[in-house]
Amino acid sequence: MSQKSDKKFERKLIYGCMNLGGGWNQNPISADDEKKAQIAVETALECGINTFDHADIYAFGKAEAVFGRILKHKPELREKIKIQSKAGIVLHGARGGSNFYNASAEYIENQVFNSLKNLNIEYLDMFLLHRPDVLTSFETVAEMFNNLGNKGLVLEFGVSNMSAAQLDLIRKNCEFPVSANQLQFSLNHTMLIDEAFFANKSTDFQPNSISGFLEYAQTHEIEIQAWSPLAKGLYSKFDENSGIAEVENTKQFLRELCEKYQTTPEAVLLAWLLKLPVRMSPIIGTVNPDRIRNCAKALSTELSHEDWYNLYITAKGRRLP
Ligand SMILES: NC(=O)c1ccc[n+]([C@@H]2O[C@H](COP(=O)([O-])OP(=O)(O)OC[C@H]3O[C@@H](n4cnc5c(N)ncnc54)[C@H](OP(=O)(O)O)[C@@H]3O)[C@@H](O)[C@H]2O)c1
Repeated sequence: MSQKSDKKFERKLIYGCMNLGGGWNQNPISADDEKKAQIAVETALECGINTFDHADIYAFGKAEAVFGRILKHKPELREKIKIQSKAGIVLHGARGGSNFYNASAEYIENQVFNSLKNLNIEYLDMFLLHRPDVLTSFETVAEMFNNLGNKGLVLEFGVSNMSAAQLDLIRKNCEFPVSANQLQFSLNHTMLIDEAFFANKSTDFQPNSISGFLEYAQTHEIEIQAWSPLAKGLYSKFDENSGIAEVENTKQFLRELCEKYQTTPEAVLLAWLLKLPVRMSPIIGTVNPDRIRNCAKALSTELSHEDWYNLYITAKGRRLP
């Protein structure tokens, strides 16, 4: 029998636009890219997903640009949806093609102006700093957020890939809500919760950069926006063999759970994230309309307490202490 979640939070998925616009290349946006993006956005909306996640760098700016074209054709959409974007990563800007980070006010404000122009909108519902830049103090970041907010360009703020301490410093100095952190989180990437099981076991516990974030998010009602929540199909590609025992065992268990809950593998994987008693919004990245629909079934799939733990244990391939 399924058991209700501990605490009720709005069940929400975000549509991630990283894969829209024709990919990470310099080709111009084709009519086909535009059609695919339009179908993906329409399918997400039909499924009740109305928040869209962008970044200045996605597909070298083409993800925002193709979305902007959709809004140009359907301006009435703007007021029905929430649009968020990110900046702060200077893609391939450093030696050897490495990325580096820039959170200076001048750089970020310029990127936000470009995002608004590309997206063909007047304001962002949320702006998130994509990664921390150790050369810019968090006080300066908060001031920059205040400037963007006071100009009416951004309604709410967030961060991405940051620790509780980093978010705390920004929140202390920002006059606008700073209410989300984007973190990689899936059944295959469980840093957010591992410490809860292995703390006080000196041989297993590895403190990590997001130690304590689950508790911080609960205390301050921060939304955790989980990126790569399907681990790019690692467990749901049923027709492929990964050659990894834990992955194949998890797939087998996932098949049983799909049968038990009469749902899709994507829904089980996302419902697994949504069961945590915290504001959790998985950001799905598929452009395949059927897969978007499969994901949306998570909103009505409630895993039992035991199945939740069994998935974690099977994916880890080890028993809990
Ligand atoms: N803040 C950050 O640093 C950060 C980093 C990365 C991503 N993000 C955000 O998170 C969003 C989601 O990230 P993601 O795309 O990595 O998430 P994801 O939902 O885990 O993966 C989606 C990708 O996996 C493929 N996939 C999923 N299931 C599959 C299956 N059964 N068979 C074949 N392919 C499958 C999809 O292909 P199809 O399109 O063919 O279905 C798509 O390319 C992004 O759009 C972005 O908004 C944020």
